[in-house]
Amino acid sequence: MKQRFALVVLILTVFTTFSFSQVTHTLVVNAAQPKATIDKTMWGIFFEDINFGADGGIYAEMVKNRSFEFFKPMMGWTVNRKKFVEGELLVINSGEQNTRNPRFLRVTLNHAVKGDLGLTNEGFRGMGIKKGMRYDFSILYRQPEAHTKLHIELTDSTKRVVGDTVLSLTEAGDSWHKAAVSFHASETVAKGRLNIWFEGNGTVDLDMISLFPGDTWKNRPGGLRADMVQLLADMKPGFIRFPGGCIVEGFDLTNRYRWKNTVGPIEERQLMINRWNIEFPYRNAPDYFQTFGLGFFEYFQLAEDIGAEPLPILNCGMACQFNSAELVPMKDLDPFIQDALDLVEFANGDVNSKWGKVRAGMGHPAPFNLKMMGIGNENWGPQYVERLQAFQAAIKAKYPNIKLICSSGTDPNGDRFDYLNGELRKLNADFIDEHYYRKPEWFLQNARRYDNYPRTGSRVFGGEYASHVDKTVGSNRNTWLAALSEAAFMTGLERNADVVGMASYAPLFANVDGWQWAPDLIWVNNLQAYGTPDYQVQKLFSLNKGSQVVPITLNNDAVAGQDSLYASACIDAAAHELIIKVVNASDKAQTNNLQLDGVKKLAAQGKLLTMQSDLTAVNSFDSPTNVAPVESTIAIKNKKITLNTAPYSFSVLRVKLE
Ligand code: AHR
Repeated sequence: MKQRFALVVLILTVFTTFSFSQVTHTLVVNAAQPKATIDKTMWGIFFEDINFGADGGIYAEMVKNRSFEFFKPMMGWTVNRKKFVEGELLVINSGEQNTRNPRFLRVTLNHAVKGDLGLTNEGFRGMGIKKGMRYDFSILYRQPEAHTKLHIELTDSTKRVVGDTVLSLTEAGDSWHKAAVSFHASETVAKGRLNIWFEGNGTVDLDMISLFPGDTWKNRPGGLRADMVQLLADMKPGFIRFPGGCIVEGFDLTNRYRWKNTVGPIEERQLMINRWNIEFPYRNAPDYFQTFGLGFFEYFQLAEDIGAEPLPILNCGMACQFNSAELVPMKDLDPFIQDALDLVEFANGDVNSKWGKVRAGMGHPAPFNLKMMGIGNENWGPQYVERLQAFQAAIKAKYPNIKLICSSGTDPNGDRFDYLNGELRKLNADFIDEHYYRKPEWFLQNARRYDNYPRTGSRVFGGEYASHVDKTVGSNRNTWLAALSEAAFMTGLERNADVVGMASYAPLFANVDGWQWAPDLIWVNNLQAYGTPDYQVQKLFSLNKGSQVVPITLNNDAVAGQDSLYASACIDAAAHELIIKVVNASDKAQTNNLQLDGVKKLAAQGKLLTMQSDLTAVNSFDSPTNVAPVESTIAIKNKKITLNTAPYSFSVLRVKLE
C-alpha cells in the first residue's frame, strides 16, 4: 500500500513537472524595512519635437506653412485657378519691418468669383476632419478697400466638400486685421484638405492662415490636441522634460532652440527649420518646421494642467556634436547663461519683473514654480564641463534652489561617459542625465546597473531610454518584447530610487506619416492616437509609483534576472498599500510564493494588473489596447500570496495594509 502511494506521488510529481514545466520561487517582501524614498518626479515624460510631435502632432494647427515662412514659401499650398495671370499671387518679404514673420501673400483679384482663383492647403500629410466637429478658421489680412470674400471649404481626398463657410473681410486700410469664422464638418475624413476661394476686386494681403478643431485640450483656442494630451494626463507623469533632445542643440548654433522666440503673440514667434527635417536622408521630411505654437508658455501650462513638474533643457553654448559641433567661445557665453536665468524669471518671477510680466501678459500671473532645469542635452568633452561650470556658478548664485541636470553624453558607458561621470561628480552636479537606447538584452542584463552606484552625491536622471528590437520598422518596433525588457530594467530603477530620481522613455510621439525615429511611446495619425505596449508599462509604473522602496528578495538577493525574473516592491504611504511588481521575462510560467513580512494585517485580497502577450505583439490604431493591463483580484492568506506569472508577463500587485 505504502509502495503504491509512493508510486502515485512520483507519477504526479513527474506529470506536474513535465506537463507545466513550472518554475517556483519564494520571494520575501519586508514592508517594515523602507530602503529609499521614491521621488514624486520618479516617472516622467520627455517631449521633443521629432516625428511631427509638435507641428503635425500635439499642436492642433491643421494648416501647414500658415505664414509662408517655410524655406519654400508656398510649400504645402497649391494654387487653383481658371486662367493664369502674371503676378496675381506674390510672396512679399517685409523683413525690414518685421523680422520675425516677414513674409505674406499678396493676392490681386480681377472681379474674381468663387472658382476663379483659390488656394489649397494639404495639412500635415492631410487633415483629419471629424463629422460634426466645429472648425475655427482665422486669418490676418490687410486691404486698401473692403472688398474680399473668402469661400472656405474642407474637402475629402476626392475633392468632395465636407464643410464650408464664407468669411467677408470687412476692414480696409494700411493695418493688419484678424478675421475668424467657425463652421462644422459633415463627414469624417482621414486625409482632408482646406480650400480658400477668393471673391472680389483689387489687392489683399494674407498671413497666418489657420484652422483648428473645436475640441482642443481644455477648449483653448489655438491649443493642443485633446486626445494626445489626455494620453499624457492618464500617465500622471512626475515631470515633463522639454524641448529636447537634439533639438535643443540644433545642427548648428543658429538652429538651436531659443525659448525667447517661442513666447508672446503667436504671429511673432519666429519659425525655424526643424533639425529632424534633414537629419536622416532615409526619412526625409522637407516640410518639417517649428512654428512654436507649442512654446514655452504652453509647455509650462501643459505641465501644470497634468500635475507634472517642468524640466526645461537649455542650450549650453554647443551645437550637436554629431553635426556641426559648433562651440560658443567662453567669452561669448553670457547671453546663453542669461537665457537660463531669464527662463527662471519667466517661470517664477514677479509680474513686475521683465519676464514675469511677459508670462502674466500671456495669461498666467501666478508663477509656474520651476524647480529644475537641464544644461545641455547630449553634450560631452571638457568643452561641455567648462561651459557647464559657468552656467552652474551663475544659476546657483542667483537661484540656489534650482536643481541642475547635467549631460553624461550619448551613451551609458565608454570613455566619454566615464570622463563626464567623474567630472560631474566632482562638480557635485545635482543630477547626471544618462541615455540608453539599447537592445532588449541590454535592458534585461542591466537591471542591477544602479545597485552599486554611489549612494551619496550626484543622483541619476534616466533622461532618455528605449529598448530597440531588431529587424522591425516604425511602430512595429514597439513590441511587447521591447516593453517587457524596459519593465524589467525599471524594477532596477525603482529598487535604486535613492540613486535614480527621475526617468523618462524617448521619444514621446510619432506621426505615422511623418516619423524620423522609432520606436516611440505614442503613435498618432491626424484622427487618432494610441499608446504602445511601452506606454502601458510606463503608465503602470507611474500610476503605481509608491513612496518608499522596500526589499523584495529571492534567496536574500535582489530579484534581478534569476530565471529571468525581475521584481521590485514599494509602499504607497498615502494609499496605505504595498505594491509589488514582477516581470517574468522567461518562456515558462512561474509560480511565485510571496511572503509578506513586516506587516501587521493584510486585506484578504489584492488587486492584480497583468500584461502578457507574444513578444512580437504591438498595439495599433485598430487595436490600441491589444497589449494592455488586465485587472483581477488575488487571494492573500496568512500573509502569503501565490502569484502565478505567465511566460513573458508583467504583473503589478496592490495590497491594502490594514
Ligand atoms: O530621442 C531622440 C534623440 O535621441 C534625442 O533628440 C537625442 O537626445 C537622442 O540622441
